[in-house]
Amino acid sequence: MRAVIPVAGFGSRLRPHTHSLPKVLLHVAGRPIIAHILDELKIQKINKVTIIYGYKGEMIREYIDKHYDFDVEYVEQTELLGLGHAIWCAKDTFGGEDILMILGDTIFDADLSAAWKSGKSSIGVKEIDDPRRFGVVVENEDGFIDRMVEKPQEFVSNKAIVGIYYIKNSDLLSEQLQKLIDEEIKTRGEFQLTDALQMMLESGEEMTTFPVSGWLDCGKKETMLETNQFLLKKYNYKYDENNFDNSKIIYPCFIGGNVKLVNSVIGPNVSLADSAELFSCEIKNSIIATGSKLINVKIKDSLVGERCEIKAKYETEMKDLNLGSDSEINLYEYINKFLE
Ligand code: UTP
Repeated sequence: MRAVIPVAGFGSRLRPHTHSLPKVLLHVAGRPIIAHILDELKIQKINKVTIIYGYKGEMIREYIDKHYDFDVEYVEQTELLGLGHAIWCAKDTFGGEDILMILGDTIFDADLSAAWKSGKSSIGVKEIDDPRRFGVVVENEDGFIDRMVEKPQEFVSNKAIVGIYYIKNSDLLSEQLQKLIDEEIKTRGEFQLTDALQMMLESGEEMTTFPVSGWLDCGKKETMLETNQFLLKKYNYKYDENNFDNSKIIYPCFIGGNVKLVNSVIGPNVSLADSAELFSCEIKNSIIATGSKLINVKIKDSLVGERCEIKAKYETEMKDLNLGSDSEINLYEYINKFLE
């Protein structure tokens, strides 16, 4: 079995953070998004991995090579022409093996063994109330997938395709992807993976579904914060408050190495990456990236990038900050004793 993970995208919905880091290296609950996915592959004992990289790909390669010992093949997608195109770029690494495709920005909580239990190709799905924004599968009476429909405006199924696909017949997938490219079959201007999967169904491939209970999208700020909340609750980290100076932690929270907390209250649902420094702050439901320094700041529902510096007035609560790396905010020009 080989995992195939496309991570080439620009991550434009997560700007400004993706100006300096590729989306999959942004932290959620203390680790980069991609680390949550790769750690799950380790648990599943899947050791062969294909990474399809593009935008800021060198940073991703460096991170994976430093932290993991997978048998990894890197394939570059030089033009971002859609997910179908991304997988097509990697088809020579499949060699007819079973593959597990996982979108690089989708952390999941699912029993993956359910995917291969049926012995058929199987698509990860989640039942949702309003499937109009998603791709869905329509199943027949025997539980096999009949067809896939992108963003159905009329109700056809509530089983949304979450972005994890187990494909047994990877040769057939390669063949259909090749057809997409050769015949320029695009939907909404892109080569779509769903189109190739639909073509597989039409050529007789049997596919089932498996349930993904936790579908943790990291595509935009709001979903990053929701994913952070879910994972913090799941991991349930605990810290000794005596390591910090007159500060309180309201769980769940993640606190990285060398974090300095002085006269502060953090939580719930806060991730503080390594070397963050907080003086007289109150932080709720936020992710603060590595090396940021906050003084007299009261914030919630915010993403603060790496090495930011925020000086504010404690009495004024701010919300929905979305600050890219190295940003500086100085709301009040006063010299704080901690700045000395
Ligand atoms: P998205 O559709 O979320 O695109 O891709 P994106 O670039 O990451 O983010 P936005 O839409 O600009 O904000 C889902 C996954 O598929 C990969 C992305 O890297 C992401 O992991 N992908 C998408 C590719 O590798 N290549 C593509 O051409 C498209």
